[in-house]
Amino acid sequence: MNNIEPPLKYYSHSVGNTELIVDNNNISLYENGQSWMGLDLNTKWQANEFVFELSEATGVCVTTGLGLGVIQTLLVQNANVTKVIVFEKNKSVIDIFLYNIEKNNFDISKLEIINVDADNIQDIVCDCMFLDHFEHEPEHEIIDRVKKISKNNTFNLLWYWPCIRHFSVFCSTNRLEISNKSFDIWKTVNGFEKLPKELNSLQLNNIMNLRNEYYSRSQNILDFQIQNQKNKLLSLFGSKK
Ligand SMILES: C[S@@+](CC[C@H](N)C(=O)[O-])C[C@H]1O[C@@H](n2cnc3c(N)ncnc32)[C@H](O)[C@@H]1O
Repeated sequence: MNNIEPPLKYYSHSVGNTELIVDNNNISLYENGQSWMGLDLNTKWQANEFVFELSEATGVCVTTGLGLGVIQTLLVQNANVTKVIVFEKNKSVIDIFLYNIEKNNFDISKLEIINVDADNIQDIVCDCMFLDHFEHEPEHEIIDRVKKISKNNTFNLLWYWPCIRHFSVFCSTNRLEISNKSFDIWKTVNGFEKLPKELNSLQLNNIMNLRNEYYSRSQNILDFQIQNQKNKLLSLFGSKK
C-alpha cells in the first residue's frame, strides 16, 4: 500500500443527527446512525482509495462529499493544485469538519465548501472532477449519477469512488486481469469518456492491492456482485410491486 497520511487529527464531535466518533484507532462518521465513512488509523487503507486523485490532481479540483475531508485536506497541500471546491449536502458534516479544522489550526484557504446537493451541480468548469458522495447505492445508479454530472459540467479528468471496486468486480466477473486493456473495456462498456486514458504501473498495483483488501475484509464484494446481478435483472424485467 502507499501509506497516504491523512493530515488531520480527529476529535469526536456531533452536530444534529450527524456524529463523528473517534474510538482508539477507528474514526467513523454517522448520519442518523448510518455510517458514511470510516478510517482505520492502523492501516489507513481507506486513504489509499485516493491514490489516483492525489497523484493526478492539478489546477482547480472539484470534489463531492466532504465526509472527514481526507481527500480535500490532502489536495490543498498539493502544490499542483490551485483551488479545491467541495459540494457537500449535509451542513452538519461541514460544521464537524470545521470544528476539526479549528482544533488542528489547519490552513484551508485553498478550499471552498459549498452546501448543496452534488447531483445538481452544473456549468462548472474545472481541471479535475473527483466524486465521492456515494455509499450504498447499486452500481448502475452510481454510474448514472456520475454520467449526469459529467454531462452537465466541463473538466479534463474524472475519477469517482467506488470506481476501483466497480472495476475490480468487473474484472473478477469477466475473468480479466487488472490491466490497461481491461480498464479500457470497462470504460467503454460504461461509456466513461473522462476517466484517464491509461493507468501507470503504480496505479494498477494500487488497484490490485485494494481489490485484495476488499476481498479479505468482508463479504462485501460478493454482496456487491449479487446486488448488481439483482439490479440488472430488475432493470430488464421490472420490479414486482
Ligand atoms: C464517504 S463521505 C466522503 C469522504 C471524503 N471524500 C473524504 O475524503 O473524507 C461521503 C459524503 O458525501 C456526502 N453526500 C451524500 N450525498 C450527497 C449529495 N447528494 N451531495 C453532496 N454531498 C453528499 C455525505 O454527507 C458525506 O459527507
